[in-house]
Amino acid sequence: MNKTQIQDFAKRITGTQSAPANERVKAVVDRMLLDLFVLIEDMDVTPEEFWSACNYVTELGKSNEVGLLVPGLGIEHFLDLRQDEKERAAGMEVGGTPRTIEGPLYVAGAPVSQGEARLDDGTDDGEILLMGGRVLDTRGNPVPGAKVEVWHANTRGNYSVFDQSQSPFNLRRTIVTDCEGCYRFRSVMPSGYSCPPDGPTQTLLTLLGRHGHRPAHIHFFVSAPGFRTLTTQINIKDDPHTHDDFAFATRDGLIPDVVHHTDPAVLRDMGVDRPFATIAFDFTLPHAVEGLTNAVVERARASAA
Ligand SMILES: [Fe+2]
Repeated sequence: MNKTQIQDFAKRITGTQSAPANERVKAVVDRMLLDLFVLIEDMDVTPEEFWSACNYVTELGKSNEVGLLVPGLGIEHFLDLRQDEKERAAGMEVGGTPRTIEGPLYVAGAPVSQGEARLDDGTDDGEILLMGGRVLDTRGNPVPGAKVEVWHANTRGNYSVFDQSQSPFNLRRTIVTDCEGCYRFRSVMPSGYSCPPDGPTQTLLTLLGRHGHRPAHIHFFVSAPGFRTLTTQINIKDDPHTHDDFAFATRDGLIPDVVHHTDPAVLRDMGVDRPFATIAFDFTLPHAVEGLTNAVVERARASAA
């Protein structure tokens, strides 16, 4: 079919309407259909290939892996880049900590602590991690009372709630910064992880000649009244996948130094019984800008229930 014939056919479909439509949904679906028809024509997609793709989408939904494939195809990072651009165009203050993808593993309702928290339940004997810093505005002033929501995987690369072998909300906390904008926590060093090897995300990645590995990282939402909420992650430096993340989440400014401590005298001073690592990291929040989305993106999320 030539382009005119395709456009005429698409119009026949998209022009079919007998009741009021949601104009936004209709506009997006109309465009998507036209683009799909053009793609099928241009790439001579066979019926077998098309139905195979339909079956794939079905399996993706059944496996609850949509939230995994989206970052894997770079779409979540693309949305981040667009939001960065919108904020620049709207004149939002520069110098804030870079945002990066949320991923699909946040769970609301983690215990709240003032100033500091211990994230692990003591059952994971991995390297102890002590992390802390301040929440600041773009002029370097501390932001007291900011909420630092933190969640990360255990040493096996698994998240509580999704991994039922962990205690509820293990490695998940909300820490409210103190009067100097400080937060700190004790936890265990997370490991990187991979897409389920037999799942549909990895199936497609393999067809694309790609791996499905993520470097070790720690997720954060950082929020305070009057500021644009930050969704971000820090990467654990020296992980082999830090610059080869299947989810494209690594960004400059999000790879703090990690100091590993093994000296028995230092361990004794810290009151710990095994080697530990320290990370210092400040979060910088720009002030909110009217007319922009300043909160965490609205999306369906897992719950602990
Ligand atoms: Fe993660």
